[in-house]
Amino acid sequence: MRPLPSDAMDPARGKRLDIGHFGLRDADMPPHEAGAWDPRALFACPSNPLEIEIGSGKGTFLCQQAAIQPESNFLGIEWTADFWRSTADRLRRNKLEHVRILLTDAGDLFRHRLADRIAHVVHIYFSDPWPKGRHHKRRVVQTDTLTHFHRVLAPGGELRLVTDHAALWQWYERHAEMHATLFERRPFIPPTSARPGEVVGTNYERKFTRDGRTFNAMTLVRREVQPTPRLQSSPPTWKSFSRHPDSSPT
Ligand SMILES: C[S@@+](CC[C@H](N)C(=O)[O-])C[C@H]1O[C@@H](n2cnc3c(N)ncnc32)[C@H](O)[C@@H]1O
Repeated sequence: MRPLPSDAMDPARGKRLDIGHFGLRDADMPPHEAGAWDPRALFACPSNPLEIEIGSGKGTFLCQQAAIQPESNFLGIEWTADFWRSTADRLRRNKLEHVRILLTDAGDLFRHRLADRIAHVVHIYFSDPWPKGRHHKRRVVQTDTLTHFHRVLAPGGELRLVTDHAALWQWYERHAEMHATLFERRPFIPPTSARPGEVVGTNYERKFTRDGRTFNAMTLVRREVQPTPRLQSSPPTWKSFSRHPDSSPT
């Protein structure tokens, strides 16, 4: 694995990026042998509710929502090193001490590391649609990840999904139906940081709105069912710090 520098140039702003203590890597988690990981311990107020965003991209939602919701902690998960680094730099510049961004594969993290019942919300906004049939297994929402979202969510916790992609929306609808014993489907209510007319107000939503695209959204509320799946005990195969086929690690 190549060493990942903690700072790098941002070509758009011509400035040096500094992740400070906001950007976390796999090595910042306790070793796998230490058991399930509870990221709430990262924060000054660990008893505050935890919200997790999968695929934070440039960190627009994290920054906007965390700025007006200081009574919660936020953990972003992003596997593209350039996005991770610029989001960490953005969190540092905005002094958002109750937010961290972790460079890793969210699927592996939920399957192998996260403790039970720790998160109030899991946000997944404009996830990569992987349109080709042979790539569907790369979609973040799968039967097994849904069982782990259910396990990691606290009672009454929410999985919030938004997409512009028709086939991915059908996939979400089908999975919500297949797993109706785990989650109750409810309408999506925009977060308080969304601007008028926005569904959630991420970078991709703003770009797609300019392209005239429309969006679909749902909230899946965790039902109390027994038994919940167990954390998968086999050690994850942490192949690299950045597993997206198109990502550039340094
Ligand atoms: C289409 S972008 C959307 C970014 C942001 N949510 C937005 O709406 O602007 C999807 C993001 O998810 C990240 N991503 C996709 N699969 C992931 C995974 N398994 N683990 C972590 N990040 C992932 C990608 O690197 C990318 O930054």
